[in-house]
Amino acid sequence: MSEKWVEQLNNSPQLGEQPSEGTSSDKNKARKTQELNSVQPENQLSGGLLGWYAAASSNSIKQGEPYFFSMYNEPLIIYRDKDSRTKCIKDLCPHRGASFRGGEIVQGELVCPYHGARFSTKGECTNLDRITCQHIVDSNYKNYAKKIHLYQYPCVEKDGYIYIYYSGKAQTNIEEFEIKTNLSDLEAESYGCQITEYKYEEVIVDFKCDWARIIENHLDILHIFWVHGDTIPDKDVSRNVITSFNQKITRDKRQIESKYNHKDKSKGEFITIKFIPPGRILIYKGELETARYVQVLDHIPLAMNRARVIVRHYRKFLTNNLLTKLIIFKNLQQRIFYKVFSEDYLILRTQTFNHQMGYIEKDNVKLLGEDKMVQYYWDWLQSSISKDKPWLLHPTNENTNPVHLETPMLYPPENPKLAKQNNNQIVIQVILRALVPFGLILLLI
Ligand code: FES
Ligand SMILES: [Fe+2]
Repeated sequence: MSEKWVEQLNNSPQLGEQPSEGTSSDKNKARKTQELNSVQPENQLSGGLLGWYAAASSNSIKQGEPYFFSMYNEPLIIYRDKDSRTKCIKDLCPHRGASFRGGEIVQGELVCPYHGARFSTKGECTNLDRITCQHIVDSNYKNYAKKIHLYQYPCVEKDGYIYIYYSGKAQTNIEEFEIKTNLSDLEAESYGCQITEYKYEEVIVDFKCDWARIIENHLDILHIFWVHGDTIPDKDVSRNVITSFNQKITRDKRQIESKYNHKDKSKGEFITIKFIPPGRILIYKGELETARYVQVLDHIPLAMNRARVIVRHYRKFLTNNLLTKLIIFKNLQQRIFYKVFSEDYLILRTQTFNHQMGYIEKDNVKLLGEDKMVQYYWDWLQSSISKDKPWLLHPTNENTNPVHLETPMLYPPENPKLAKQNNNQIVIQVILRALVPFGLILLLI
């Protein structure tokens, strides 16, 4: 990671801030008027759809294996260089435009499968002689050498996440990025949560639907009772006992937060949901600094109709590794996650269709008071889409070769293989644990 752009990142203005200009009084006057006109209300989110995303989990990025994914239709790769630092590049070889699918990583350097161009950590071609005949390119050789360079995005690995700064325009010179939002705005740590004090389980889920519908789903508590009542192991979460809440929403430039307290005061707080743009949601109880349990959901807009969610459940209880292994905690948690997301899936897909058909317009749907959080999210989404236009940066149409769409998605519910494997593991582990006492008895007699 280049120090220059980290510095740039730390000193970068917030979205909406004006860059400093000349000193003439006229210029200043004009600037002040402009500033007054563009002053953003304190309760409006400053970040838009372009910015820092937790795009992958560190666990997914293995040395020597390129991790293919996409953002807003643009095919990208994350990989580790020879020092294990993560890089994020566009899946496009700058020689003749091949994809790196089928290529390899040799000593941390990406190698194109088409003519073998190999690229350094900085993104420069390290074996030009392999792909060029110097006598043919002759005088232009030096110029050409400068041009053949990977297209990159800023990429930071932190707390087991790979964050990328997605601007929609990958660049050959990573120091030239204009970074408009701070990574710290996205991080739970900057809200007082010490992630290092927790243990966590993680699942990754893939959906063929509009990513915004998934975020909306995670901001909506009413459906939890209705859709997930039988799956979530909490007797108070059931479609038969839909509870009344007092909802308090606070908004500022970094977040929208909704706190739900039971109307029955003796029961206290039910849950707090925090939306941090562009794609993170935190769910917890009490204060983030002291919460025993924090759920972190990161939503990744792979492509139109394709989205990935990284779900982590951080906890301060059940921290003993042996005990959690003994009770197959990880597998049981994963089973619940996979089931919960499968329950949402049909709704999300069909709601995506309705949205794309223009059926979810103001006059067709009426939000309830309980949907205030969704309303704020819709407002932010709509203004961010018209400002950042992320889906217009790499548009596809019916003539676009569907090669990427034909690539199977990795995780349940779109790819149920992992969920089945997990269920089988649970069955095997339970049988093994039940057999141990019998084995001991047999040994003794
Ligand atoms: S297209 Fe990659 S080396 Fe030629
Ligand atoms: Fe849900």
